[in-house]
Amino acid sequence: MITLTEVIEVERPVEACFRYVSDFRTTVEWDATAVAAQKLSPGPVGKGSHFSVVCKAGPTELTLDYCITEFTPWQSVVLEGTSRFFHVKDVITFDPLSQGRTRITYVAEFRFRYGLDLLARNTEAGMQKMGRASLRGLARALADGNPAPSASADTEQKDRKLATALACFTRYGHRRGRRKWLPMSSDMAGKHVLLTGANAGLGFATAVSLLEAGATLTVVIRDPAKLDTMQQAFEAETGRRADRVELADLSLLGDVNKLCQKLHQQGAPIDVLINNAGALFNDYATTSEGLERSVSLLLLSPWRLTEQLLPLLRRSTSPARVINVVSGGMYTQKLRCDELIMPDNNYDGTVAYARAKRALTVLTELWAQQWAEDNIVMNSMHPGWADTPGVQNALPGFRRVTKKVLRTPDEGADTVIWLARATEADKLTGKLFLDREPRTTHLRTRTREDEGERARLLKWLNETYNALEIEA
Ligand SMILES: NC(=O)c1ccc[n+]([C@@H]2O[C@H](COP(=O)([O-])OP(=O)(O)OC[C@H]3O[C@@H](n4cnc5c(N)ncnc54)[C@H](OP(=O)(O)O)[C@@H]3O)[C@@H](O)[C@H]2O)c1
Repeated sequence: MITLTEVIEVERPVEACFRYVSDFRTTVEWDATAVAAQKLSPGPVGKGSHFSVVCKAGPTELTLDYCITEFTPWQSVVLEGTSRFFHVKDVITFDPLSQGRTRITYVAEFRFRYGLDLLARNTEAGMQKMGRASLRGLARALADGNPAPSASADTEQKDRKLATALACFTRYGHRRGRRKWLPMSSDMAGKHVLLTGANAGLGFATAVSLLEAGATLTVVIRDPAKLDTMQQAFEAETGRRADRVELADLSLLGDVNKLCQKLHQQGAPIDVLINNAGALFNDYATTSEGLERSVSLLLLSPWRLTEQLLPLLRRSTSPARVINVVSGGMYTQKLRCDELIMPDNNYDGTVAYARAKRALTVLTELWAQQWAEDNIVMNSMHPGWADTPGVQNALPGFRRVTKKVLRTPDEGADTVIWLARATEADKLTGKLFLDREPRTTHLRTRTREDEGERARLLKWLNETYNALEIEA
């Protein structure tokens, strides 16, 4: 048997350390050998949770199946891992120190199979070195001091050519990005997040991750019939339900207004607002308020919601974050305010969708400037191409052709979660992100809007809203 023992002290409360370390999916962020990790069992992390961790082992890779065998919140966690060659028992204990610091003691006992002990003893020095490197990695991850995000030279190069930029929208873009990601150990306990469109697709994946991270979550959905199923699914995945559910058809500005009134009455400051709800409508239709529904849901609605919630965002103690979910489709369109409402006789759902998302991207930039002094960080993100109910329903042909390269909803939602959670994600404002990096907002020079059109957008939104007949 070989035993490795390492001790680190970190400036993080014991709860945050325990939550981060006991979720073994995080090993890829700090373990010197882990290259991939996933949770295999459903439900919240606890006794009986299973993880698969792929580790580098010399020239080859080794898969370890881990199971949590003892789980005492904030005190200790024991994991037992098996691989082809050895069994390992990790005993991790957490001791609170003064001033919110924590001591983590990590003991790993390796027992080798097939009489490999002798061979293992020859590699013991190497294993000790790896153990020390892993715990240094864990200390770095928990120090949570990542620099402000920036685009790598390789990403900037990829965004210069349409084909390579589009390749980044696929699951391979996500995999490529993932290799460079820094640890995300920040805890969301005490943070209030308002998330729209939480019952399906990217919104559902975002809600699950934020509940796991301890956020106080208010979700907005439109269909009361989906409420129970959504809450049960949250509970099955995380052991928690959304703290509050509000019902609103966000394509109706009257509903948006009522929602805001209610949130103001409740009075809870909003730390993160995620404008995620959306749909691509292939057929032309207007809402009961008389507005074409794409522009209403995808542009007027997040504009009105965000502007009205400004007082609650201002009351966040750390910089509040607004995250607008846009789309790579917007790269095809140029902002022209007069073309945002498409007429029935010339309607193209994909174009209407892309124009609204382009406008929301520009609006994010305008808001970032306008609210720079308000302690509010505004960013947009696009998820690439992800296999969600939205894509399945609206773009069946596209899905058939691209199915093999589509991202999972978790992969599509990753940057939303990172923008909401990561400490460093509030160091930039007014940017468009994909895979945790700021990206260009134009792949073609012909889509660059002129200053006059940008300046018109807010006026256009106010005029369009004022012309509607909205129920008081
Ligand atoms: N998936 C992709 O590849 C992709 C690519 C680019 C951008 N996006 C954007 O990502 C966001 C999420 O899309 P998704 O793919 O996850 O779509 P999804 O699976 O269809 O989920 C959309 C969510 O928005 C809600 N929603 C739609 N219309 C609403 C309304 N009028 N009022 C309130 N909620 C409404 C839906 O509720 P119901 O279940 O009741 O309909 C659902 O919860 C959207 O903004 C979309 O434009 C997605």
